Amino acid sequence: MIMNHKLLYILGLTVFLGFMSFTLQEDRWKAPDGAKDLKNPISASERSESAERGAKIFKTRCMICHGAKGKGDGIGGKALSPKPQNLTSGMVQSQFDGEIFWKITNGRNDMIKWGPILSEEQRWDVVNYVRTLKQ
Ligand code: HEC
Repeated sequence: MIMNHKLLYILGLTVFLGFMSFTLQEDRWKAPDGAKDLKNPISASERSESAERGAKIFKTRCMICHGAKGKGDGIGGKALSPKPQNLTSGMVQSQFDGEIFWKITNGRNDMIKWGPILSEEQRWDVVNYVRTLKQ
């Protein structure tokens, strides 16, 4: 009898965890497939200058939520759900430049839609800065 209860418990837990990981997976923010093809227009030799411009934009526009080093720990993000992402993480850094650009441009939930606020070049500058945050 005790054995049966244990089995039921384990079964229930397995179903619950499966469901949770499915829901979390569902909530992952995925840029549409076409976003991968958006090419970073800034040439390799100009990337570091671009990233420096991006760093300034990041300080005034992004740091409040994403934190001084982009770890997702800014004071403005504490009460948000979902929280601002850790931009240094593999989850973000493994994405194509175009996907990061697309997300910055379009926003979601509390992530601001920057398309109407920052110029296209400014958004690429920020993408190039975000790349420098890779751990
Ligand atoms: C008001 C707070 C806030 C500000 C300001 C903000 N963000 Fe976000 N950001 C968020 C939140 C919240 C999310 C998570 C949104 C979600 O998953 O639905 C997010 C998500 C992102 C993502 C997507 C990460 C991923 O792959 O899931 C990127 C990239 C990003 N922000 C970059 C920026 C940049 C660059 C700026 C400045 C130009 C900025 N954010 C400003 C709150 C903010």
